[in-house]
Amino acid sequence: MNTPELKMRGVGHAYALKSVLEDIHLDLPAGRVVALVGPSGCGKTTLLHLAAGLLALRTGAIENGFRKPAVMFQQPRLLPWKTARDNIALGLKAAGLPRAECISRAQTMGHTVGLDAQALDQFPYALSGGMQSRTALARALVLEPDLLLMDEPFSALDIGLKAQLHRLLLDHQAQRGLAVLMITHDLMEAVRLADSVLVMASDPGRIAHRIELTAPALARDDAFVHRTTAELLQAPTVRTCFGLEVLPPDATVACDGAATVVSIGLAQPRAKKGFSC
Ligand SMILES: Nc1ncnc2c1ncn2[C@@H]1O[C@H](COP(=O)(O)OP(=O)(O)OP(=O)(O)O)[C@@H](O)[C@H]1O
Ligand SMILES: [Mg+2]
Repeated sequence: MNTPELKMRGVGHAYALKSVLEDIHLDLPAGRVVALVGPSGCGKTTLLHLAAGLLALRTGAIENGFRKPAVMFQQPRLLPWKTARDNIALGLKAAGLPRAECISRAQTMGHTVGLDAQALDQFPYALSGGMQSRTALARALVLEPDLLLMDEPFSALDIGLKAQLHRLLLDHQAQRGLAVLMITHDLMEAVRLADSVLVMASDPGRIAHRIELTAPALARDDAFVHRTTAELLQAPTVRTCFGLEVLPPDATVACDGAATVVSIGLAQPRAKKGFSC
């Protein structure tokens, strides 16, 4: 049997007359994680929605061989009249599972993403932003998808929870051969989780830089992630995509998880830039 795969070839998109995406090529086989990184408005969500079949394809070709895709949207999109538990159970209920089983599986997955019984009883208005994103993540994972399309899934979480959910996603992914297409603004998160990192440029949105990470994600330590992120942040194409000044050849970038430090012509990093990676 062939391994399922998501393939995009020469994909473009326009809203009215405005071209938003141009000539996107992407391969995502089962068991791999692809991260899309890029500045705000470069077309990441549009690309994910095209992959999910939520937008009509006008240019190029998309082949999706996965049978059970799940989408985690940029906004959690929870139903306000249902508790967190019932929101997680929605897809199971739609698939026709008995109510008791839906609730029990929703509860287990809710606990796995760090929501206790009290949180699962709450309606969305009473959940924090991070709790809402965990509910949305649980709602996607409980369906046991073979393809997970995630739009900035961890952006509302603190660093502890983020690390916990990174681990959960990687374990889930390794055990089930799940394919993940994930959007993030966080280069370090992309380097920690993905097998391929695609950096997008804007106007129109296109893939300007790709890196392939051969070490298994679960085996990457902080030193590897910081070093690789710093190398990425030094690449002129990546800097241009994010509107950052291109560095002179003698500059080095260091990344320690809290801050990015750029040093120019010095043995030790000196000048601190005000963004984290
Ligand atoms: N439904 C729409 N109609 C018209 N223009 C749209 C629509 N959706 C998005 N756009 C425009 O398309 C461009 C890409 O939007 P998109 O949401 O894909 O960007 P993004 O990379 O996901 O941004 P962000 O990182 O801020 O979420 C933007 O200029 C946006 O204004
Ligand atoms: Mg977006």
